[in-house]
Amino acid sequence: ASYEHILTSTPKPGVGLITLNRPEALNALCTPLMTELNSALSSYDNDASIGAIIITGSEKAFAAGADIKEMAPLTFSSAYTSNFIAPWSHLTTIRKPVIAAVSGYALGGGCELALMCDILYCNEKAVFGQPEIKLGTIPGAGGSQRLTRAVGKSKAMELILTGKNFSGKEAKEWGVAAEVVEGGLEELLAKATETAETIAGYSRVAVVAGKEVVGKSQELSLREGVEFERRVFHSLFGSRDQKIGELTFFPGFGDGWLILLGMTAFAEKKKPEWSHE
Ligand code: HXC
Repeated sequence: ASYEHILTSTPKPGVGLITLNRPEALNALCTPLMTELNSALSSYDNDASIGAIIITGSEKAFAAGADIKEMAPLTFSSAYTSNFIAPWSHLTTIRKPVIAAVSGYALGGGCELALMCDILYCNEKAVFGQPEIKLGTIPGAGGSQRLTRAVGKSKAMELILTGKNFSGKEAKEWGVAAEVVEGGLEELLAKATETAETIAGYSRVAVVAGKEVVGKSQELSLREGVEFERRVFHSLFGSRDQKIGELTFFPGFGDGWLILLGMTAFAEKKKPEWSHE
């Protein structure tokens, strides 16, 4: 598909890269851009060759927020009846892991978009913030909930009520980012791609399950979450990739190819060949 506001590519086998590309507006997240992002996310999610997805922006801006010029004329009734911003949640329904690679501004909706991703990497040029209060409004794409879960109530209150920015280093210190990578966008993308490639190299079934159970930790009580995890863990004994001691033959190749699956391969000290089933 060809897009106007984003670029898509596969930097490594199994890795889908989405680059927000609206440089004239520092990747402000207008509705047409979000529609394209959602479409690209769905395409990668439905593409069996893709195992992990990266979202990035430019060196200067991951995304400088929702599009203020688009929002300015909205009224309560137009925002309410069109359920403005609701389609942004599409990202949280993607089954495959999504990595944010943040260089430069990740403000307002840009920060919220990064917070929706499963793993967040940034560099020292990253500038995060929820500046909505300065515009007479509040975060509207989950920032008050996700930032609070990431940094705790007191820090989130301070950030959201003052609109103060925070750095890539602080993002790492506070648990918003998994890693702050030294260097520019290139080094950051190398790190994100390496992680995405690692994830894409595992059984898709286990990866999707791993993402699902960690995601539940943000929504369920500890007891419910642990029970949910155990059920999903049990269910993975039903996956082909886990099977122990089973000889699996590839139909249509003479006598068949032995595929070494997860625990079998471990026992035989061999590298597994995942069936993704
Ligand atoms: C629309 C934006 C924009 C935005 C930047 N631009 N941010 N347009 N929406 N969020 C546009 C500018 O108007 C300008 O266009 C061009 O991008 C370059 O921006 P400059 O301001 O000239 O760049 P610079 O001086 O380098 O300053 C960078 C900046 C500043 C500090 C990031 O642009 C800024 O403060 N932007 C707004 C950040 C913000 O408040 N974000 C939160 C939005 S509210 P022209 O045409 O003049 O060249 C939000 C609500 C979320 O996100 C709730 C629901 C999702």
